[in-house]
Amino acid sequence: MPSSNTSRVVLVTGASKGLGRTIAEKLAACGHRIVVNYFSSSAGAEKTVEAIRQAGGKAIAVRADVREPAQIAAMVAETKRVFGPIEVVVNNATGPQPMLPFEKYTWADFQDQLDFFVKAPVLIAQATLADMKAAKWGRIIHIGSEVVELGHTEFSAYVAAKAAMIGLTRSWATEFGPWQITVNLVAPGWIPVERHADIPESSREGYAQALPLRRQGVPDDVAEAVSFMASDGAGFVTGQCLSVNGGNTYN
Ligand SMILES: NC(=O)c1ccc[n+]([C@@H]2O[C@H](COP(=O)([O-])OP(=O)(O)OC[C@H]3O[C@@H](n4cnc5c(N)ncnc54)[C@H](OP(=O)(O)O)[C@@H]3O)[C@@H](O)[C@H]2O)c1
Repeated sequence: MPSSNTSRVVLVTGASKGLGRTIAEKLAACGHRIVVNYFSSSAGAEKTVEAIRQAGGKAIAVRADVREPAQIAAMVAETKRVFGPIEVVVNNATGPQPMLPFEKYTWADFQDQLDFFVKAPVLIAQATLADMKAAKWGRIIHIGSEVVELGHTEFSAYVAAKAAMIGLTRSWATEFGPWQITVNLVAPGWIPVERHADIPESSREGYAQALPLRRQGVPDDVAEAVSFMASDGAGFVTGQCLSVNGGNTYN
């Protein structure tokens, strides 16, 4: 059980499946009240909420496109009405992540990635920061990626946008620190989720065998790291990037 001792109101963006669902379930198991944000899959979000409630936790599903300020404002207002002000934000949502040789990318491809990994965290911070400052407590946790360290080929739109999340992490940690608002980033390696179902076992095994830990990560590995960053016990940790990738990178 991670070292969390106060029940917080937590927003997990993109929690209708994948890593977001497991992060939401783990944080609920820590006693937090969870906003399960989703975009297109209300069934997926309800599945996450149901799993949390079945386990004795508290959660609501709220639809919002995290790239749209009005929808974020409505989500924050709905959360306040049900649970109170948001105290922890987990910026997890992602759209499609096209892999292309650089010549084939358009600026729109870069803009799409920046919309998820810069615009959405910025809009959500603008909508939640005043409450965190008033409470003199808060947690902002970005889900980054190991590809920033690895410099993955034919992935520069995603890599650049994920790298920008490190900039937000460092800059906001300095700026928001006086209010005891911590800002950290958890950088997963390749963690298979639903969207990786078609990738052959041989590719998974090849990736795993190249890792110091010789196994593929699971969503729970990421969720454990996020729950630590959200906890009271992580109160003196800010501006940091924690790789959760079996030792695949240098930081
Ligand atoms: N899995 C990995 O190997 C891996 C590795 C490194 C980093 N990451 C990072 O981890 C995070 C989660 O990845 P994942 O693999 O779990 O992704 P995923 O399974 O594709 O899930 C993406 C989530 O984002 C939501 N979403 C999509 N567009 C949205 C929008 N406009 N507004 C709000 N929510 C939206 C989806 O909701 P709907 O389904 O309802 O549309 C879904 O819940 C991402 O930031 C990703 O870059 C993942």
